[in-house]
Amino acid sequence: MNYNKKSIEDISVAGKRVLCRCDFNVPTKDGKITSDKRIVAAMPTIKYLVDQGAKVILCSHMGKPKGEWKPELSLKVVAERISQLLGKEVIMAADVVGEDAKAKAAALKDGDVMLLENVRYMKGETKNDPELSKELASMADIFVNDAFGTAHRAHSSTAGVADYLPAVSGYLVQKEVSIMGKALAAPERPFVAILGGAKVSDKLNVIKNLLEKVDTLIIGGGMAYTFLAAKGYDVGKSLVDNEKIDYCKEMMAKAAEKGVNLLLPVDTVVADSFPSPIDAEIPVEVVDCTAIPADKIGLDIGPKASAEFAAAVKAAKTVVWNGPMGVFENPILSKGTKDVAQALADSDAVTIVGGGDSAAACEQLGFADKITHISTGGGASLEFLEGLELPGIACLQDK
Ligand code: 3PG
Repeated sequence: MNYNKKSIEDISVAGKRVLCRCDFNVPTKDGKITSDKRIVAAMPTIKYLVDQGAKVILCSHMGKPKGEWKPELSLKVVAERISQLLGKEVIMAADVVGEDAKAKAAALKDGDVMLLENVRYMKGETKNDPELSKELASMADIFVNDAFGTAHRAHSSTAGVADYLPAVSGYLVQKEVSIMGKALAAPERPFVAILGGAKVSDKLNVIKNLLEKVDTLIIGGGMAYTFLAAKGYDVGKSLVDNEKIDYCKEMMAKAAEKGVNLLLPVDTVVADSFPSPIDAEIPVEVVDCTAIPADKIGLDIGPKASAEFAAAVKAAKTVVWNGPMGVFENPILSKGTKDVAQALADSDAVTIVGGGDSAAACEQLGFADKITHISTGGGASLEFLEGLELPGIACLQDK
């Protein structure tokens, strides 16, 4: 995929109406934003557009309202937060492409900022309906995509609208693509990737693609047990995806053939059963992966595995990490994930963390500023690692 795309600096935005797609899909609790990371990440683009005297029309989705007008998924709270960060009013539209939005967009003055309501209130959004794309485009002169977290979706506001307007990237998309793109295309070596998460089936293509590029591939988390089972180990009651055993064998053979060092955990934290509730205090013990008792379930990597993974990270020049090493929602089972986060924080390498749980782990531990780049994309960063074309980036003008 071609990542050499035009950005907001390659087009004149002064005095123009700019429709800027952001990913303001932020977590909320009792109507309050609990992490404004994605809003903060979009601010450089918003500030630039304001400073250049553009008439800024922001848009985003929140949650999955599926074409229904769900008030709890309104973007009003986001408008308030942007207002605070920007130090100026953000005009909130009462609809997406309705009379109110259109009237407010038409009345914008240079440097004004408005926010449309949740684009997924419209049924056409997730269907990439050309009628909705045209309606969105009709309010603006230029489309800027700064929604990296939604770049893997071919929706009206992320890709479709680019059929009707000149389309360029914002600073966040540019940053995500350049850091991750460089890591994958021309990494400083040794290049180490660490993959975790529950299921092998979620990461099939990521594993395959990364095996073409890395020097060391570390597999932890729930998915490691399917690899261990494929090696012929008895993994007790641990999560095993039986249909993917052959796939794991194939990947291990591919790693050997390519000279990639494939590291699996040598020890694991086990318990009698999966914790319920997930953060329940349960008795655990550490066992070698060659000796997992038949009545136990593996729920985190053990200290020897942590040390081995940390040593690989220490020797690396580029590290990409996606997915937790264990049931990290449970403090007793979060040590492996924390150890990996610590190893990345201590490393001098270029360190890149995919979104979701691994990003949350780095943030909770206060390591975020010691990581080169924490992606704002969950699904999007995974698809990026798979080497897939992201529609929200492919639709932008080439340089
Ligand atoms: C995300 O949170 O990963 C993005 O905002 C995309 O959301 P979606 O999975 O609902 O499309």
